[in-house]
Amino acid sequence: MFLTTLYLSLALVAFLALIFVITVMASMVTLFFTKVPFVPTPKKNVKIIIDSLDLKSGQVFYDLGCGDGRFLIATAKTGANAIGFEISPWAYAKARLNIFLAKSPAKVYFKNFYETNLKDASAIFCFLLDRVMPKVEKKLKKELKPGAKIICYGFPLPTWPAKKIIELNPSNKKSSKIYLYKM
Ligand SMILES: C[S@@+](CC[C@H](N)C(=O)[O-])C[C@H]1O[C@@H](n2cnc3c(N)ncnc32)[C@H](O)[C@@H]1O
Repeated sequence: MFLTTLYLSLALVAFLALIFVITVMASMVTLFFTKVPFVPTPKKNVKIIIDSLDLKSGQVFYDLGCGDGRFLIATAKTGANAIGFEISPWAYAKARLNIFLAKSPAKVYFKNFYETNLKDASAIFCFLLDRVMPKVEKKLKKELKPGAKIICYGFPLPTWPAKKIIELNPSNKKSSKIYLYKM
């Protein structure tokens, strides 16, 4: 009986370790293609960014590359319909777990956001990298409805002049900017 329990426990640990290794390796392969690593926005900046969007209940908010889902959980609290797309298995698993633990109505899809039409968005958030921003700008200009708001964290849209630029935590050495746009 003791040995059976021991073997079952060892098998479970080995299975979980295997899932972990597969998820991490799949995330590394994904990174090779997207070229955008999972780096979460510091929590203290999440509130400032969401407040800047001034979302109304029922409006659709997309986080393009939602990482661990922190923006989705915070945005859903405003009553907005918070939806995220994430292509890294590791970050996606974290987002699913965090949303579940927070009992949040936010939704996250394991999906490449370039393959989704964003026409119903009232607000978009993206924290990506400068090398992908030209493609993102083209997509947003093609699909967004008039009045839709966009916030880019750290990396602006390359040819679209921002309506407003906010320096976050200016007194801090690690300060960064957000760029606000309106369609
Ligand atoms: C810098 S992290 C930002 C995460 C989160 N938005 C935040 O601010 O905390 C960028 C995320 O975008 C994801 N990503 C990059 N390209 C993507 C794509 N084409 N489709 C879906 N997710 C993507 C990456 O896997 C990564 O987790």
